[in-house]
Amino acid sequence: MEIFLKIVAPVQSYDFQSFFHNLLLTLPASSLVGVILFFVLGAFSGFKSIEQRLYIVVSLTIVISFTTAFYNLGVPVDTLIAVYSEWIHLIVRWVHIIVGVAWIGTSFYFNWLDSRLERDDPDFKHLDGYLWSVHSGGFYRIEKLKGPPKKLPKVLHWFKWEAYATWISGFVLLILVYYLNASSMMLGNSGILLTPLQAIIISVLLLIGCWLLYDYLCKNVLKNNEQTLIAIGFFLFIVLSYSLTQIYGSRAAYIHVGAIIGTIMAANVFRVIIPAQKNLVTAAENNEKPNLDLSLEAKNRSIHNNYFTLPVLFIMISSHFSFTYGAINNWLILAVISIAGILTRHYFNLRNKKQYKFWILPAAGMIMFFLMTLSSLSVFERKEAPVSASLELVKFNEVQNIIKYRCGTCHAKYPTFEGIEAPPKGVIYDSAKDIVANIKLIKAQAIDAQIMPPNNLTGITNNERETLRIWIEQGANINN
Ligand code: HEC
Repeated sequence: MEIFLKIVAPVQSYDFQSFFHNLLLTLPASSLVGVILFFVLGAFSGFKSIEQRLYIVVSLTIVISFTTAFYNLGVPVDTLIAVYSEWIHLIVRWVHIIVGVAWIGTSFYFNWLDSRLERDDPDFKHLDGYLWSVHSGGFYRIEKLKGPPKKLPKVLHWFKWEAYATWISGFVLLILVYYLNASSMMLGNSGILLTPLQAIIISVLLLIGCWLLYDYLCKNVLKNNEQTLIAIGFFLFIVLSYSLTQIYGSRAAYIHVGAIIGTIMAANVFRVIIPAQKNLVTAAENNEKPNLDLSLEAKNRSIHNNYFTLPVLFIMISSHFSFTYGAINNWLILAVISIAGILTRHYFNLRNKKQYKFWILPAAGMIMFFLMTLSSLSVFERKEAPVSASLELVKFNEVQNIIKYRCGTCHAKYPTFEGIEAPPKGVIYDSAKDIVANIKLIKAQAIDAQIMPPNNLTGITNNERETLRIWIEQGANINN
């Protein structure tokens, strides 16, 4: 036991004796909760198996008794919530990526499959096509039938949970990261001023409203007019990105564009694609003709989803790149990167149809290159003309004070900023050494992109940013 604890919690000198003592005391009550839960779960059809229920209940009982033991030992509720929410946050983000990969993976796979089917084999005229492949230890032969099978198989795979789970985990993330921290994570510091509650309501309304608008446009206005739909869709996308960056903070704006497109994609599956599949299946069961309109619409939506994937994936990783969402014209950057993504997807879709338009890829590359150079002009210019070389040396003392008051309230081993329990992202500026070690990040976050402090909560002035910039330019010397 001693050795085990030394390995898992090497730096702590925890009073395990009191902890286990407390744990024993909490067991009767938490077991009682467990027993009740066992019967409550039994009422749900999904949990009929006793074994499943036991696993869930025992796990939850352990969680409850550990939590109450910590609480009884005097750990403040705020601290418990902070630690638990960080880990829940981690798990939800992880799940979101895993199910998202599964969804996009199957979607890419079926797109590819459809385009690679062998359709011209005279011996297999009764099939729409077939395909041979080899993968991890076996040969696979997949056949696509011309119509429904004479008798439906017992097990038919639908591929819908990936989409739903991605949307649900994404929405939970939106709540955890943005709604629960609306005042620091959602509100912008320019343009329209919202209260946190208004920001959340707008967010929910947008998710629903944009889907309804998109669905309406697809169904009514532009049924057989692909080009107009694309043009209007892209125009609305730009209007959306622009307005969101005006009402929300920049990261929240990006994430919301992603959340809206993600919602449209999941709703496409839920409201159009799966109902069309259901129609196919019931028609086959009853020996009727399926509703071809439904299938056509489903195919369209599935193509839309296919094109949406690359922009959404970019938005998912965008929060690592402050020069995108933190830029002045961040909405334009988002639009241009999305075009590059959509073009790339288009190239592969055409290639799957055996149309080789290679120029599309270099064109997408050039778009990214010009975006990079144009959006970095101010950075390049600054490098060439070091204005500050002739200025007086900035004193480190001054720098340290700015960082202490503007950043250190959050970025300290023991933050003093209300609501911040631990230094965000582990970034700490307590000592001169900490500051020097993080110099690149300070420049990126507080000077170039100006996204720190978030929403300028600590009121850093432009002069202070300039002082930091000049000090860094003069060599970031702590002996000045
Ligand atoms: C009100 C609290 C607060 C203040 C003040 C603040 N930050 Fe932050 N900082 C945060 C939060 C929250 C995050 C984490 C954001 C995220 O999840 O990406 C963060 C993240 C960072 C990161 C890591 C970014 C990354 O993605 O790795 C750096 C660097 C940083 N801040 C620098 C600064 C600097 C420099 C200042 C002062 C000019 C500052 N911060 C002031 C709250 C604060």
